[in-house]
Amino acid sequence: MSSARKKITVVGAGQVGSTVAQLAAYKNLGDVVIIDIVEGVPQGKALDLQESSCLQVFDSLVTGTNDYKDTANSDIVVITAGLPRKPGMSREDLLATNAKIVQSVTENIMEHSRDPIIIVVSNPLDAMVYMAKKTGNLPKNKIIGMAGVLDSARLRTFVSLELGCSLVDVDAMVLGGHGDSMVPLPRYTSVSGISITELMTTEQIDRVVERTRKGGAEIVSLLKTGSAFYAPGASVVKMIEAILQDKRRILPCTAYLEGEYGWSGIFFGVPVMMGIHGIEKVIELKMTEEEKAALDKSAEDVKKTCDEIDAILAGSNDKE
Ligand code: LAC
Repeated sequence: MSSARKKITVVGAGQVGSTVAQLAAYKNLGDVVIIDIVEGVPQGKALDLQESSCLQVFDSLVTGTNDYKDTANSDIVVITAGLPRKPGMSREDLLATNAKIVQSVTENIMEHSRDPIIIVVSNPLDAMVYMAKKTGNLPKNKIIGMAGVLDSARLRTFVSLELGCSLVDVDAMVLGGHGDSMVPLPRYTSVSGISITELMTTEQIDRVVERTRKGGAEIVSLLKTGSAFYAPGASVVKMIEAILQDKRRILPCTAYLEGEYGWSGIFFGVPVMMGIHGIEKVIELKMTEEEKAALDKSAEDVKKTCDEIDAILAGSNDKE
């Protein structure tokens, strides 16, 4: 039976994937399909989540599968598949393994869905979105990486903890790659419209910026057997909501650049307007020289990882 409801496919039934499925269902954003290569796990998690629908009161159908046919005609696909970091690993250490996984996932998705919007979460993020775009030949508005919403949420949290003020009033902007050279922007981070450059000392700002840059690693070192999932899951769902409800929210997301911020042909964290077509537009902020230098450094790091993807893709073409 076909349904007028939106279809959200979550690839990967791990912690991030399960959290996305749960929050998307709780918010009634659409029907949810969880797909994983492990037999039984997506089915079990989906059934468990479905059994909570009368308690949480949602109408979304939640199904689990190992067969990409069941993902047919998805409106949104969230790719979380891949290995997570172990303590001491950088996101980049995962590149070669996760690149192959994201490549095969994207091929399978595109075989069954004509025009999906794909949100990538797998790490190293900027390179994995690049791999998905190249593999699926996706238009640049329909392929988005989740990083900036999460990194900004971390910065917001640390600012509110540092100032002892409510989170509700804190807004933050973190741009650049989703790695150690990401660029938290204190000038564009504010509490009720007041920039934190007015509210915090340089030491306080340095502290929250540094903690944000290492935010993912801090969780990995505590968990030891996995990486963060509550905040990443909530970040993805905020993006799905902005798209499916055509909210035209302005969020920092990993977008394909064609000249913006002086860079082309890479995925990079920038503020975008998110609506029903995915990325409606990229917003270019005025930068100080120092901010621009930090962004360029981050873009250079990202470019190297995209070059590695190009090499992997060239290798797989040679084999064909
Ligand atoms: C993190 C992972 C999701 O930053 O990249 O926790």
